[in-house]
Amino acid sequence: MSKQVWKAGTLIYPSPVVMVSCGALDGIKNIITVAWTGTVNTNPAMTYISLRPERYSYNIIKESGEFVINLTTKKLVKACDFCGVKSGSEIDKFAAMNLTAAPGAKLSAPIIYESPVNIECKVKEIIPLGSHHMFLAEVAAVDVSDEYFDKTGKFHFNKSNPVCYSHGEYFSIGEKLGSFGYSIRKNKAENKSRKRKYSKTNKQK
Ligand SMILES: Cc1cc2nc3c(=O)[nH]c(=O)nc-3n(C[C@H](O)[C@H](O)[C@H](O)COP(=O)(O)O)c2cc1C
Repeated sequence: MSKQVWKAGTLIYPSPVVMVSCGALDGIKNIITVAWTGTVNTNPAMTYISLRPERYSYNIIKESGEFVINLTTKKLVKACDFCGVKSGSEIDKFAAMNLTAAPGAKLSAPIIYESPVNIECKVKEIIPLGSHHMFLAEVAAVDVSDEYFDKTGKFHFNKSNPVCYSHGEYFSIGEKLGSFGYSIRKNKAENKSRKRKYSKTNKQK
């Protein structure tokens, strides 16, 4: 097998694709689609979004020091694309996409009510990197829709049909391949046969 060498580029796909809401409920509010986002720390919960300074949302977030990461689902994917190709300087994206700007639990930036998970973020630092500036933020609260909880209180996020982004295309999540730690977990069949072998050998003794 041989390899081609490409010029430096970020080809980390699939990536998340989220709708970031910003501004204020009773003032200017907007939504920008962002793929350059992710987790940077567990405790305190910290995340980032990287924005080009020319985005209309850039100054709104810089001035308010707040934004909300709204997770995208199959139902929301068209709105997500729209918010990534139209600018809030020309159009009200909440109205155009029939999305509801609702109050969040802790901050003034509006959440998108139709998204199942709204992550309210407070900006800690803006780091100019080049084409993009990174807004490093601490999570102030997470608002989660009731409909994906089961009777035991467990939240089933995967039932909301989350969406990811890869090389210019949107995808829903496909086949389940395993779960955290499954590579070292003994499966039930193996355990049973091991127990059977063990009791057989013990009986023989
Ligand atoms: C799938 C997708 C991902 C995007 N990711 C980013 C991003 O990470 N950072 C960014 O600055 N712009 C990103 N954009 C572009 C902005 O969403 C787009 O320029 C938008 O119209 C800006 O909105 P605004 O001018 O209302 O702020 C992305 C667009 C799409 C469609």
